[in-house]
Amino acid sequence: MREVNNIKGWIEYWNTDTVFLNIMGKIAGFFFSRTMPILNYSSEDTVLDIGCGPGDLEYLLKDEVKEIYGVDTSQRFIQECQKKFSKNSNVFFYKLDEKKYTDLSFIKNKKVSIIICLSVIQYYKSVEEVEMLIRSVKKIARPGATFLIADIPVKHGALKDILSLLKVSLKEKILFETLKFLFQLRFSKYYKVRSSRGLLIISERELTQLINRLRLNARLLKMPLTFNHGRMHLLINL
Ligand SMILES: C[S@@+](CC[C@H](N)C(=O)[O-])C[C@H]1O[C@@H](n2cnc3c(N)ncnc32)[C@H](O)[C@@H]1O
Repeated sequence: MREVNNIKGWIEYWNTDTVFLNIMGKIAGFFFSRTMPILNYSSEDTVLDIGCGPGDLEYLLKDEVKEIYGVDTSQRFIQECQKKFSKNSNVFFYKLDEKKYTDLSFIKNKKVSIIICLSVIQYYKSVEEVEMLIRSVKKIARPGATFLIADIPVKHGALKDILSLLKVSLKEKILFETLKFLFQLRFSKYYKVRSSRGLLIISERELTQLINRLRLNARLLKMPLTFNHGRMHLLINL
C-alpha cells in the first residue's frame, strides 16, 4: 500500500485530521435543520450515528432524543467525544474495529430507531461494504426504523463540490472561513490521501441497483442536506 506522509489510508487520516473540524460543525448544523422534517427526531428515539467524528450531531441531538450512540473508526474522535460528553448520561461512544467496521453487533440490544451515516461511506473501499453496512444495521434496528446514508458522492471530480461549497458559504455568510479552509485543504494530508486513494463514488444507477438488489424500501433524496449540493442521500425504511 502506498504511504502518504506515513498515512496509509482514510482510517489513519481521520485519526489525525484537523482541517475539517470547523467546517464539519457548520455542516452538522445545516444537516440537523434540513433533516428535522425527514427524520422527525423525538424523545422516543434511540439514534445511532455511524462515523460520528467530533460529535457535532450528538451535541445538536442530545436534548431532542432519548439516547444517542456514536461510533467511529477514529480512536482520537471517540476519546474526544467521551470526554466532551462525559456529563451527558444519554450519549455513548464506541470505537469500531478497523478491520470489520461494518460490524455493529456490539450494540444489538439497543434497537435503534434512527440511524445516520453522514459523510462517511466515501471512505469505504467498495459498494459491497455499503451493502454489508445496510445488512448490519437491519439486524440492530427496530421495525419501522429509518436509516439515512447522507452526502454520497455520485460523480467523480472535486470541482462541483468546491463550487457548491462556495455558493452555500456565500449564502451562510461564511465565505472567508471557507476560502481559508479550501486553501488549507489544498496543502493538507487530505488532499494527498484523496489524490492517492480517491473517494468511493457510487453513481445514481449503482445506488438504484443496490436498492433493487437488497429489495430495500428506500428512496434517493437529491435535495441539499449538506453543503455539497451535487451529492445524494439514501433514505431506507427498515
Ligand atoms: C467527514 S467526517 C464526518 C463526521 C460526522 N459524520 C459529521 O458529519 O460531522 C468522516 C468521519 O468518518 C469516519 N470514518 C472514516 N472511515 C470510516 C469507516 N470505515 N467506518 C466508520 N467511520 C469512518 C472518520 O473517522 C470521520 O470521523
